[in-house]
Order: sequence, then C-alpha cells, then structure tokens
Amino acid sequence: MDTEYDYLYKIVLIGDSGVGKSNILLRFTRNEFNKESKSTIGVEFSQKNLKIGEKTIRIQIWDTAGQDRFRAITSTYYRGAIGALLVYDICNHNSFDHIDRWLKELRDHVDPESVIVMLVGNKCDLEEKRAVRPEDALSFSQRNSMAFMETSALESTNIEQAFEKLVSLIY
Ligand code: GTP
Ligand code: MG
Repeated sequence: MDTEYDYLYKIVLIGDSGVGKSNILLRFTRNEFNKESKSTIGVEFSQKNLKIGEKTIRIQIWDTAGQDRFRAITSTYYRGAIGALLVYDICNHNSFDHIDRWLKELRDHVDPESVIVMLVGNKCDLEEKRAVRPEDALSFSQRNSMAFMETSALESTNIEQAFEKLVSLIY
C-alpha cells in the first residue's frame, strides 16, 4: 500500500454480534465476502487510503466482537477514534434496539463532541426478511445527529459510500 498520507483517521465498528461488521470491513478493504465468517475474537484492524480532493486520508478501521466475552478492553478499542459506524442488521430488530446501548458505550469512551457517528443498517439484500423500517432508522439517526445508510456487504451496496460519507463528515 501507498505509505504516503496527509491524515490518519481511526474509525471503529460497533454493533451486535452477527450484524456483519467484519464483512463490511472485508468488503471495503479487500472486496471480499465471507459467508462462513466466525465471530471476531479480540481486535482486528485494516486500513485503506481514500482521496478527498488533493488530500490522501488513511482510514484505519477497528473491528471487534459484538459479544462481550470476545471483546477486547474497551478503552483501548475506542481510544483516539474520530468516527464510528454503528451497525445493526435490518432483519434483526433486537440489533436495532441495542443501538442506544452502543451509542452510550461509545459516548462514555470518546469525546461525544468530536466523534462522528454513522448508523448503518446492513444486510439490505434480505428485503424479504426485513424487520426494521428504514424510516424508523432514519428518524432515530436524525434525533441523535447521525448520518444513516443501508448497506449490503454481500452485494457491495453502499459499503464504499458509507465510509466516504463518514470521512467527508469528519474532514
Ligand atoms: P461478530 O464478530 O460476532 O461481532 O459479528 P460481525 O458483526 O462481525 O458479523 P459477520 O461479519 O461475521 O457476519 C455474520 C454473518 O452475517 C455471516 O454469516 C455473514 O456472512 C453474514 N452477513 C454479513 N453481511 C451480510 C450482508 O450484507 N448480507 C447477508 N445476506 N449476510 C451478511
Ligand atoms: Mg466480526
């Protein structure tokens, strides 16, 4: 990878286990998808450069498990993050109900004034199993001053766009 960059942004992925965080990361950084992906253990991260105008921004994306027992020490995970993708699964209403909890954890660990948050409803390829209406997610995101997008890591829908949007809001 290109070693030159102008800015380094740390972005964290958070949300319940199984919503597709690791596959969003895999799709974005390697254009791959893993049907049999296992729950993440500990912390993984990948990086990718994005161009905004003349500037190169290296985004370093951190991924951990949604399940408490696999999670790494939370303060280390969040330290220095300036953006977050808060991910739920559009087919799993519980994962949407838990967004509040994830938001609270995030705000307890980073300066709530300076972190940019984006709500992401993943698995939008599974329309027939939809359990969360986009208008409900949109109004939640507006009440909490976040951007919102539905994505599919499987079909590559809005994956690049979600990161580009987040980075443009940070920049
Ligand atoms: P933890 O690491 O346990 O927190 O889970 P995770 O959020 O990283 O979920 P992961 O990416 O491992 O995906 C869980 C399951 O959902 C896997 O079987 C994936 O193949 C599947 N999956 C992920 N994204 C999508 C998607 O966009 N569409 C569909 N249909 N399945 C997806
Ligand atoms: Mg994972």
